[in-house]
Amino acid sequence: MSKRFLLTSLAVLAFTGSSLAQAGCDGSPLPDYMHHIKDELRAVSSDIKSGDNQAAAEGVSKIITLFKKSREETPYLFKEENLQGAELAKKEKAYQGVVDDTIGVFKSLETALKANDMAQVKTLLGKVGQQRKIGHSSFKTSC
Ligand code: HEM
Repeated sequence: MSKRFLLTSLAVLAFTGSSLAQAGCDGSPLPDYMHHIKDELRAVSSDIKSGDNQAAAEGVSKIITLFKKSREETPYLFKEENLQGAELAKKEKAYQGVVDDTIGVFKSLETALKANDMAQVKTLLGKVGQQRKIGHSSFKTSC
């Protein structure tokens, strides 16, 4: 490996590292909440597989709390697009609407888990995936 190649590689790594260090693009806690939601969802899925619906329901309750916090934050995309005034308010309302729909799905999932209604649990997990797609395609940017 040439010295020049090595130095270039290190420079690239240093640059990548510093951009990654800007947690949440602008310091918003939203990406943290989202990563936490992802981890909790994994735990819920493994609890369901091992038949512990009570533990899964507790995990879902934590996810609901995280979405309630996420609802109070502004997606970075809106800042990137420099939205302001009525336009910003409209988009924030749309974002909060999708978060509310998602919370509704998780509330139903919690009920289904407590009732051991596995057919409904399966349907609702599918709906969670759909909400994620809707939320990310409309409001998530990579930064
Ligand atoms: C339901 C399951 C969901 C999971 C597991 C999930 C997970 C994640 C993860 C892991 C990230 C970080 C990705 C990255 O680092 O690039 C992220 C980002 C994001 N998610 Fe979600 N998400 C979910 C649902 C939603 C919903 C419903 C919305 C909107 C209504 C949403 C809005 C966002 C936004 C806006 C970001 C970018 C963060 C920012 O703008 O600061 N997510 N999500």
